[in-house]
Amino acid sequence: MLEIYFASGNPHKVLEINEIANPYGVNAKLPEGKFDPDETGATYEENSFIKAYEASKCCGGEEDLFLADDSGLEIYALNNAPGLKSARYAPTAEDRINRVLDELQGVKDRGARFVCAMTLCNKKGEVVFKTTGIMEGKISEKPAGNGGFGYDPIFVPEGYEVSVAEISEDEKNLISHRGRALRKVLEFLEEYKN
Ligand code: IMP
Repeated sequence: MLEIYFASGNPHKVLEINEIANPYGVNAKLPEGKFDPDETGATYEENSFIKAYEASKCCGGEEDLFLADDSGLEIYALNNAPGLKSARYAPTAEDRINRVLDELQGVKDRGARFVCAMTLCNKKGEVVFKTTGIMEGKISEKPAGNGGFGYDPIFVPEGYEVSVAEISEDEKNLISHRGRALRKVLEFLEEYKN
């Protein structure tokens, strides 16, 4: 198993990542010690680099790789909000969902997408690979389901009639922005390992 660092403070994300990565012979672990990056980038890509770079400086050894993601929800009728502010759109996950539903009251075009940028750095903080993944869909009229996290209860993926919080983790991983980006990273790592 290739052990890599996953630069995040969100244990749910590492679980999601490992569900996908373990079958490829890759296992992600959280940085040890103080990992507190300033997410000041103007894009998901920049923020994912900031996180991967920070992790490369705070833990691990010469041979280690540091993966980070940054993601957000973009709602077309709201000029792509909450976007980079997805995690801070309101104080709690429930408040964030309610804010989105309030802002979309009476709006017919509820198209939206999740975007995920991933960056893989080496111990020197150099980018060895970067990619993005997208999941298209729409915002439902009300929350449904208990699975996943964040905006999952109000996001209905294209081709589905249920929210992401109502499908299994395995199914989410197949279609999600993070799953799509991660599989590209894992394909890169298969080459890199050899
Ligand atoms: P992060 O900065 O990449 O951790 O993600 C920013 C925010 O986007 C999260 O706090 C969630 O609110 C939202 N988000 C990202 N990915 C997902 C997902 O897969 N489901 C639901 N919400 C998500």
